[in-house]
Formats: sequence, C-alpha cells, structure tokens
Amino acid sequence: MWSKLLVGAAALVALHAETGYDAWLRYAPVEGAALAQYRQAIPAVVSLLDDSEIGRSAQAETVRGMRGMLGRTLRTEAGVPSENAIVLGTLDEIRRAAPAWRLDASLPAESFWLKTVASGGVRYTVVAGADARGMLYGAFALLRKVALGQPVASLDEKQLPYARIRWINQWDRLNGTIERGYGGASIFWEDGKARADLSRVSDYGRLLASLGINGCSINNVNADIKALAPDFVPQIARIAEAFRPWGVRVVLAVDFGSPQSVGGLDTFDPLDARVAAWWQSTEAAIYKAIPDFGGIVLKADSEGRVGPSTYHRTHADAANVVARGLKPYGGLLLYRGFVYDHHMDWRNLKNDRARAAYDNFHDLDGQFDDNVAIQIKNGPIDFQVREPASPLFGALEKTSQAIELQVTQEYMGQAHHTVFLVPMWKETLDFDLHAGPGPTPVKALVAGRVFHRPIGGFVGVANVGMDRDWLGNHMSQANLYGFARLAWNPDLTSSEIVSEWTRLTFGDNPAVDKTIEQMQLTSWRTYEDYTGPLGLQNLTDITGNHYGVNVEASERNGWGQWHRADEKGVGMDRTVATGTGYIGQYRPAVAKMYESEATCPDDLLLFMHHVPYTHVLHNGKTVIQYIYDSHYRGAEAVEEYVRAWRRLAGLVDEQRYRDVLAQLEYQAGQAEVWRDAVTNWFARASGIADAEGRVGHYPGRTEAESMQLQGYTVREVTPAEDASGGKAVACAAASCAAEMKYQGAAGWYTVRVEYFDQAEGAAKFRLWVGKQVVDEWTADLTLLPGRPDRRLDSTTSTRRQITGVALRPGDEIRLEGVPNGSDQAGLDYIEILPVR
Ligand code: GCU
Repeated sequence: MWSKLLVGAAALVALHAETGYDAWLRYAPVEGAALAQYRQAIPAVVSLLDDSEIGRSAQAETVRGMRGMLGRTLRTEAGVPSENAIVLGTLDEIRRAAPAWRLDASLPAESFWLKTVASGGVRYTVVAGADARGMLYGAFALLRKVALGQPVASLDEKQLPYARIRWINQWDRLNGTIERGYGGASIFWEDGKARADLSRVSDYGRLLASLGINGCSINNVNADIKALAPDFVPQIARIAEAFRPWGVRVVLAVDFGSPQSVGGLDTFDPLDARVAAWWQSTEAAIYKAIPDFGGIVLKADSEGRVGPSTYHRTHADAANVVARGLKPYGGLLLYRGFVYDHHMDWRNLKNDRARAAYDNFHDLDGQFDDNVAIQIKNGPIDFQVREPASPLFGALEKTSQAIELQVTQEYMGQAHHTVFLVPMWKETLDFDLHAGPGPTPVKALVAGRVFHRPIGGFVGVANVGMDRDWLGNHMSQANLYGFARLAWNPDLTSSEIVSEWTRLTFGDNPAVDKTIEQMQLTSWRTYEDYTGPLGLQNLTDITGNHYGVNVEASERNGWGQWHRADEKGVGMDRTVATGTGYIGQYRPAVAKMYESEATCPDDLLLFMHHVPYTHVLHNGKTVIQYIYDSHYRGAEAVEEYVRAWRRLAGLVDEQRYRDVLAQLEYQAGQAEVWRDAVTNWFARASGIADAEGRVGHYPGRTEAESMQLQGYTVREVTPAEDASGGKAVACAAASCAAEMKYQGAAGWYTVRVEYFDQAEGAAKFRLWVGKQVVDEWTADLTLLPGRPDRRLDSTTSTRRQITGVALRPGDEIRLEGVPNGSDQAGLDYIEILPVR
C-alpha cells in the first residue's frame, strides 16, 4: 500500500527488490572475508538422525539457509557420516548413534545444544534438541549465527526456553477478515472454511518456529460458534497439518455457550454433568483428528461474550470444565483475564475499569486446574500507549498465568505508524511487583518461576495477513520478531533484539543499521509524545476506530477508559486515600510508590492521580506545558525519521526504501494532526497558553475555510480539534477549487496540503501556482481495513508535501479537488514553509 503514495522519490540505485515476505529469514549472501571463514567452518554435509516431519524441516531449512548465505548446497544424509558434518538429532538419538561423543546433559523440553565435537579426526557441528522441536530451534539458531556474523567454528551453547507457553493468538474471523488486523485478509480462512491454499500458513509456521513459537490460535477470541461444530474439525485439521512440520500446535478460540448453541443442550452451565460430558467428547474428537492440538483460549463474560455469570458460576468453574477435556491429551486452557464491565457509571468517581482483572480473579486463586493459565494483558486497561503492569500478575500464587502482549498495533498507529513495542514490553516484563521475598519481575511471575507453577508464559496477538509483508508495514515485523525473542528469552535487551532484527532484515550496512535501530528504539516514546503522554492513555477514538484523535471519546460513557480531563485538572485518581483504590491492588512496596505524587513516576502520573494543570512534574515542567512540549517533540521526531530515512536512499533495496519512506512521511503528517488536536484541546480546556507560543499559532498556514471557494462548502468537523480551526471544506459538485494569494517574501518553499482521504472513493487533487500545475495526486489510501472512515476527521486527514516550490508575492495558489464516490476531496489547510 505504501508504494502507491510516493511519486518521484529520489533516484535510487537499483538494489534487488524485496517485498518483505522473507522477513528475518532472508539468508542474504555473506560477503568478503566472512564468506571464506564460514565456508571453512560449515561442512559440506547435513545429516539427520531424527527422521520426523519436524526433523526434515530442520534439515531442509539448513540446506536452504546455507545455500542462500554461503552459495553452497549441502549434501543431505542420515546417520553419522565419517566426514565433517552438521548432525541434527534429538539428544537421545545422538547418544545412541554416537556414544563416544559423550553428550551428557539433560535438556528440558524444547531446548537445544549446539556443540562442536571432534572425534576420530572428524569435526561435527552437532545440533542436539531435547526433542524434535528443540532440534528445529537449534537449526534455526545455527543459521541465525551465520546471518549475524557470529562465530560457529567452535560451539558449546545450550539454550533453554524461558517458559513453556510461547503462543501467538490470531484474531481471524472465519469469513476471512481479521479483527484488528492491518496486514490484509486471513491466511487461514476464506468464506467460512480453511483456505484452499494454505501455503501462507506453512510459511508463517516457519517464521514462528525460527524463533521458538510453539502454538498459534487460528480464530478470533470473539469466537464464532461454528469453530466447535462437529463438521468443522476437518477444517482445523488442515491448518494443523500446514503448521505441523514447524512444530506449531494449533490452538482454538471457543465460545463458552457452545454446549448449547452447537451441542443442542438446554444449558451451558459449567457445573452441569451433561455440559462437562459435551466438552469432553468434543475435545476428544478434536484430538482424534489433531493429536498435537495445543489447547483452547477462552474469552468469557467480557465485551458481550457469554460466560459463567449466566449461571452464577465462577471463572474457575468455567475454565475447569473446558480444561478437563484437554487434560488427558496434554492440552492447555488459556482463560482470558480481560473481563470487565463496559456499562460502568462514569459519574461515580470510585468506579474504575483498571480494577477489573484483579477484582475478578484474585479471590479465585488456587481454584483453577493445573492445565489452566490466566491470560492477562500487560496492563490493567487495554493495550494503551502506557500502562502500569497489571497488579493481577502479582496476586496469583496458586494459579498459572501468561502475559498477553499485542503485536498488532491496534492502539499504536495500526500499520501506519512505526512503533517498536519491545521497549514497552520490556518495562513491564522487568517490573518488580514485589510479590515475594526476592526479585519478582513480571517475566518470572508469568513463567511460573516465582510460585513454581507447572505452566506459564507468553502470548502475542499478532494478526498477520495476506499482505506480502505480513503486517502492513515492514518496520512492524520487528514487533513480531521481538515478541517471539522475548518469549524465548525475556532477558534480552531491546537493543540486542533490534540490532539482530535489523541486521537479519536489512543487512549489515552500518549506516542503515544505525538509522533503523535509532528510529525503532525511540519510536514508542515518540508515539507516546504525540498521542497521550504522562499516563493519559491514547486519547484516540476509543468508541470508534482506535486510530484517530478524539480526546473526549473516552469520557462520559461506560467503557471506563476515562482520563477525567476538565477545565481544572486531569487524570484518574486511583489512590487508596481519595480515589478508586486501584493502587491498593499492588503489593505494599509498589502501592507506596504509586500512591504518592512525590514518588509516582511522571510517565504514569495521570494514570494514578488527578492533578491541576499547573502541577509541577519531577522534570520541573507543569503538566500542561509538558503536554504541549511532548507533542511538539514527538511530531518533530517523526520529521527527523523521514530525514534520516532519506539519507539511506540507495543503501536499502528500492521497494522497501520507498515503502518505508511513504509510511514515515504519512506518519509525520499524522503526528502533526495529533499534535495540533491534542494541544488545542488542552489549551481550550485549561485556559493556559503554551509558554512557547506555538499552540494556536501556525505561521504560513491558511485555513481552507478562509480561502476563496468555488464549489467547496465549509463543514464543521467533529470533534472540532480534528481539523485546524475546527472546520474544513468539502466538495459536493463535480469539481471544486480553493484559492489563496501568496503574500510572503519571494523564495523557495515547501507547500503542505492537509487534505482528507475519505474511504470508498479516490478523489483527485491538483495544485496550481499561477498557471502551472506543481503537483497532482489521488487520495486512495486504504486506511482502516474493515472500518472505512467516510468522515472528515483526524483519521482521514492526510498531508501532501511538495518541496522546492518557487513563490513570489501575489502568486495565486489554487487547489482543485475532484470528488469520487464517498470521497469529497476535503481540504483542511495549506501551509507554506521556507525550505529547510
Ligand atoms: C480490545 C479490542 C477488541 C478485542 C478485545 C479483546 O478491546 O479492541 O477487538 O476483542 O480487546 O482482547 O478481547
């Protein structure tokens, strides 16, 4: 999609075009001295002892990777060859085949050991897995070492997964669309059935296996009841088959009402024996068709889903009845902790959605079966730009848990903004909840390490789709990579992860790597700066598309994402002393820190406290001035990303260079829309001016509504902050024009046209200076798949930037718009800035 946006990019060296399909498994040719070294170190043979489906994948992948990187096709064999070889097998198989190697160790499930063994004058590069999956992960790790330029000649390295559950959730609907998916249609489903061609599923399995992901749910948590219909099992089995060579187990989301809606019982009461029997026989039938089925994810009593409350039963009753039918087969039940009331009375200042997960689950601690884990979102609300760690992680001692992180960027600019989420996830994973005597970071709690739970781990909501680049933005792939790396080893740092990813995905040019790493590592803070800083949460259109700006959308409704900003102050009082008491859900050491404004970190101040706008932060600024400054800083940071990216012209393959440039330029425009909307809203609410005089003053900007209009009519925009001056113009005729006279000094300028790209139609624009057309374009961005936005608002507001335009005083500047379909060729303003 991004390629469409960019016309007339700088002349580029024709590097090999890449679509992003191969993601971090490109196996780009190694060059220079390193090539000779690796050719020396990597033997000519790859031998497989483990003749299983997964084993064959490991062997074929090794051949594929080495061929790509070293330009050599390894010979495949079985058994222990009498020449130098890579030997792939499980530890048991290797011990049996080569007792003399004395590989004495006991490896936990799914781990691996890379070991160079010299025996009888022969050198073996041994990839020993605890089991077939471990071996596959080891083979990928060996390939990754070569791709990252790390030594492989003398290996002795064991890697153990940090936790057992390393799952992906996909929110794919059976009709082929994806809830909160920004990378195209479902790779699994089409028209209510598994796709005829499931090769994308296999390729996805390969990407996931390369980083140790071992399970993937394949349908939306808001589950279609059809998922458990008896005649549907073969569809699931086909998908399981596509994943199987990569060791990825299929997981299913189910509807809790299924015993009634699908099973024909007159109840779904979890304590009814017939209901229990139904779950058992239904799950047995799944296992019959899919012996390696991973388990079930269940969303109950949440956002309109039915649940145990219908029968006044507990979440433990609900979880256990489903889990018991999975237990004989080793299946797991992940019960979602995302349970809250979305009809809360907003007038009651004691109400607080953030309390919900803890209030719903902590009293049930100890009542869940041992193959159940509570799947808890990182924060207490819902994937906002900054939230504290959910207190529930620290409140379950006798119940297993897993953390749910969102890879798909629902509240993070969707596929249109580059936001690298690993630093955010790291903050939560490393946060010490003081739940025990020693350190108890969230990562250790969710992995079951603190309270010695049998299961636990990590779930990432990924939502890849049919787009060639999987996620709709090349840079977003780093989030999928990063999630999976953290699930394997959450002790990795953000820098380690981003530098691995960048090198694997874009190669080893230091200028390229430095630019991308810098951008990725700062991008979360940048996004927070221009959306909702200080713990305000996103300030997005919370009851709508979760994308554009709408500061008040969260208020005066039952959804409970309140920030309670008014003319006097801002923030949710969640203290024990005067507020909702949420802070009391943390253990005392943490609660103490949040309870006091003096010790609460600035980044979460407004999440925890209601303060006047003049409250002075630890950083010395008032809250209101910080809101202004952060928005200007954030918008400027994205402009800098664009400039930095432009310096990579010719150093990155052409297609990805253009795609990323177009994406970043769009993001820079959106960041400004956000900046202006939020700062104007707060300036109006607080009545306190920006000390720097920026808010409300836009040098070089001319509002469309004050231009000379031909055919265009003035429209009020809702919410008002979504358009400059609260108004825009739209065209209801066949074509319209807006004209202004340039009155500044003669010189070279950048002209910015802020127009609206409404869905379902592709309006055309043409910009004239005097008698000359200086630019023309079509407004055909597809912004929100599945939720087309036909309004003139911040979501559709889009910037066109024309650089190097010569202007003289008195020049007529004229924008012509030709509407198309629902796209009314709307215009917000034209801004003329001196070329920098
Ligand atoms: C968010 C998201 C929903 C999703 C829900 C969930 O609220 O907007 O689309 O269903 O989370 O995680 O269950």
